[in-house]
Amino acid sequence: MRPDPLAYLTAELNALKDQGLYRKLRILEDEQKPQTTFDHRSVVNLSSNNYLGLTTHPRLRERALEATRKYGVGTGSVRTIAGTMDIHMELERRLAEFKKTEAVVVFQSGFAANAGTVSAVLGKDDVVVSDELNHASIIDGCRLSRAAIKVFPHKDVDAARTILQSLPASQRKLLITDGVFSMDGDLGPLPQLCALAEEFGCIMMVDDAHASGVFGRNGRGTIDHFDVHGRVDIQVGTLSKAIGVLGGYVAGTRALIDFLYHRARPFLFSTSHPPGVAAACIAAIDVLLEEPKIIDRLWENTRFFQTGLKSLGFNTGVSEGPITPVIVGDGALAMKLSDRLFDAGVFAQGIAFPTVAIDKARVRTIVTATHTRDELQFALDAFATVGRALGIVQ
Ligand SMILES: Cc1ncc(COP(=O)(O)O)c(C=O)c1O
Repeated sequence: MRPDPLAYLTAELNALKDQGLYRKLRILEDEQKPQTTFDHRSVVNLSSNNYLGLTTHPRLRERALEATRKYGVGTGSVRTIAGTMDIHMELERRLAEFKKTEAVVVFQSGFAANAGTVSAVLGKDDVVVSDELNHASIIDGCRLSRAAIKVFPHKDVDAARTILQSLPASQRKLLITDGVFSMDGDLGPLPQLCALAEEFGCIMMVDDAHASGVFGRNGRGTIDHFDVHGRVDIQVGTLSKAIGVLGGYVAGTRALIDFLYHRARPFLFSTSHPPGVAAACIAAIDVLLEEPKIIDRLWENTRFFQTGLKSLGFNTGVSEGPITPVIVGDGALAMKLSDRLFDAGVFAQGIAFPTVAIDKARVRTIVTATHTRDELQFALDAFATVGRALGIVQ
């Protein structure tokens, strides 16, 4: 028998096991909702990005079913050949209206939107100036573009300025930040970065994946929250988190969107969303516009839960929204905290290096609009018991 050429993968997995960092996938056996069943156990779910509970909202479900009955389950083609249905165009029109931009293009995921856009708009002679905590899909897009990548320390606008000052005025530059940082829940300094972009003639891009449906009026995102409309050239959003379905989009000028229709590789080379997905996303926009109280409930729950964690003595970092990390430092300790919480009936995923810095391992929590106070109090009680047992709090 020939030697297994992939044997080194097993060795790497064994190393993860030795370090206590090996993760088995938790299997969801019910709907994605606040109290649900993972791995045969009923738990309070603090691990989803389903901020508004839209994954199971009746209006989204119904519209997805209607569209599936009308159009079938798939599109059978990429967008540029035969896979653009009228429902995809309707979704793009509705999103553009919602985001107050000229146009929108929808991608299969937020990841595809970021990676496909950065790699399409930049080339090897260009430069990206990027926050060190920007999402992996931005980093991959930068790498694919072959542009030079200059990273500034997290939210350090002065450091970004120093980088920009060192670059030739004639070089094309993209300044890029997350709107909400996915592991810490803090916001990018959009007004200051927009001012820098204007001063140095950069393309300004914001990845608002975790802000869509959460920040700004009716969940329009951080561009609306900071009132920097018209100052961000490329806005990325996702349809996979608060919107509750699947997909990503880019909002901007008609010319940007037409260009992406012609050059963004995930748009050109990967099949479009099933019609049921597009229909459910349209229904989600209706919910954001017509049921904004759902967003108020998300924020009330966020305040309640964060205050509770802080008063127990946990380090919740610098969060400014529903993403609330419980930072413990050591990776193995974060995994142990997550496992013990699970045994106590609370699912909060442990996150360690390389997703976060080696000494910043954590359990990440996200409350949703649909958690009840009893569920959140149950989770706080479990955090108190397990946190004390592991010596994380007193
Ligand atoms: C900041 C950020 N951008 C982009 C994405 C990708 O979004 P999607 O899950 O729709 O691919 C994520 C999701 O993990 C994210 O956290």
